[in-house]
Amino acid sequence: MPANIEIIQADITTLAVDAIVNAANNTLLGGGGVDGAIHRAAGPDLLQECASLQGCETGDAKISGGYNLPARHVIHTVGPVWKDGEHGEPELLESAYRRCFEVAHQHGLKSIAFPAVSAGVYGYPMRKAVVIALVAAQTAAGLYPELERIVFVQFSEAAQQVYMEAATRLGIASI
Ligand code: AR6
Repeated sequence: MPANIEIIQADITTLAVDAIVNAANNTLLGGGGVDGAIHRAAGPDLLQECASLQGCETGDAKISGGYNLPARHVIHTVGPVWKDGEHGEPELLESAYRRCFEVAHQHGLKSIAFPAVSAGVYGYPMRKAVVIALVAAQTAAGLYPELERIVFVQFSEAAQQVYMEAATRLGIASI
């Protein structure tokens, strides 16, 4: 049975899933936004492991432990900084989501939760980013039978609304 795609409003650091995804930067050494929140909640051991991962290319993903988080793992990905959409941003964002699912699959994970990668400080327009995220989830649900839950997590009511509308347009049954 294909994975359930869920769209919820929550703080991603509170979720007890196999992996939460971090919208990180190329250094993997922490930052603001969801990255800062994840590092604060996980504790300093996460930063220590991240320092050994030797950074991450834009569009790639790397996995670490979850430490003090309820999630077992963190999958760190780096989305593109939005310029004008003509600098490979859609391909790089699609790649970031695809790599997260590939890494989850390599580790046999059954549940994964995503923030809106690139749609904060990196400036990717939320409406465009959401379509890429949801299509990547649909593809992964078809590819990886072990995947039971794909959760999209928003901090704000407004972002939640954008996800729900896009899911309806794309014919994705969300719960
Ligand atoms: N739970 C769920 N979503 C959250 C949370 C949270 N606790 N906190 C923020 N968001 P951003 P980016 C949402 O800026 O655009 C960092 O400094 C937020 O509202 O965190 O990929 C990194 O180190 C927004 O919708 O990530 C990089 O330098 C979404 O998460 C840079 O920011 C992503 O916003 C990456 O920027």
